[in-house]
Amino acid sequence: MNLPVTRYYGSKRRLLDKIWAALTIHQIEFNSVLDLFGGTGIVSYYMAQNGKSIIYNDVLSFNCEIAKALLCSPRGSFTETDALTLLQREEGRKYKSIIADNFNQVYYTPDEDEIIDIVVQNIQYLEDEKKASAYYVLFQSCMIKRPFNLFHRKNLNLRTNFVKANFGNKVTWEQSFKDLFLKFTKELNEFQFEILPNVEITNTSALNCCKHADLVYIDTPYFPKRESSTITYHNRYHFLEGLMYYAEIPNHIDRRKVNMEIGVGKNLEFEKRSNYIRDLDELIYKHRNSIIALSYTTEGYPSIQELEEVIRKYKQTTHICYLGKHGFALNRNNAERQEVLIIGL
Ligand SMILES: C[S@@+](CC[C@H](N)C(=O)[O-])C[C@H]1O[C@@H](n2cnc3c(N)ncnc32)[C@H](O)[C@@H]1O
Repeated sequence: MNLPVTRYYGSKRRLLDKIWAALTIHQIEFNSVLDLFGGTGIVSYYMAQNGKSIIYNDVLSFNCEIAKALLCSPRGSFTETDALTLLQREEGRKYKSIIADNFNQVYYTPDEDEIIDIVVQNIQYLEDEKKASAYYVLFQSCMIKRPFNLFHRKNLNLRTNFVKANFGNKVTWEQSFKDLFLKFTKELNEFQFEILPNVEITNTSALNCCKHADLVYIDTPYFPKRESSTITYHNRYHFLEGLMYYAEIPNHIDRRKVNMEIGVGKNLEFEKRSNYIRDLDELIYKHRNSIIALSYTTEGYPSIQELEEVIRKYKQTTHICYLGKHGFALNRNNAERQEVLIIGL
């Protein structure tokens, strides 16, 4: 299946066929899926392509917009003209300059800060059907311009000090917003459905989500085996989450932090190592009447055996499916890392 590139930390894009194969081999039958930690929406997208009804959930609202763009906005509803119009100041409209005023030299160049200010405010005036697609195009462009596609470090200098002009990343970072908007609008129109699948999107923390489905897919944040300071999803993507609450950004910036972290959307459920087993136990109990499919890695905390024990408290049968090695090429510590799917029936 042809799938959009996601640029998201922990995306399961490369594992989808293997997850699907594991469910097929174990003859798991289901019509509906609750994708509780939906992220990029790629798992939901794959399941929807395979005819399943979907409930997508993520605690970060910018992710929900990305999912809405991919799953709930019909092909052709957002055009290249729409994308280019977003980049222009509209006559008679008053613009704030919140990003330019507060994030000078933090994540983007001053020209780019100004563009982000304009685009976010223009999106507010769009008709509902186009909004998610507009956010998709903005967020993908913002991510691709960042070193490592992340926001937990102030490291614009990595980009601007890089001298080799033809080095791959440098070329990617320096693409204009205009070119990127055109690229991502084209991509979105390639992947959006012509006839929309059966999809519902919710934006809450997993333990607060009161939806149910035949199969619950659980892809929580991971912790490394050894105790170390935790970088949460909110730390990694606070800037994009902040853009969803544009006018409120100045009230939520943590000015003690070098990276000017924006506090909106912060949530520690499943992001605290010490509470992880307890959170998971509560979640599995809540969905004890559904099929459970939990993704994790062999190099994480808790161990696969500990995770299986939690699932076994509420499910009669479990299958541990090893999906192969997916270590990061440059990180030798991770060379043995295997992705795992634990199924609970
Ligand atoms: C490993 S990623 C999921 C990746 C996703 N399966 C994909 O392929 O793109 C974990 C996701 O959980 C979300 N998250 C973190 N804590 C959460 C919570 N308590 N409830 C719901 N979502 C949460 C994060 O925002 C992140 O998108």
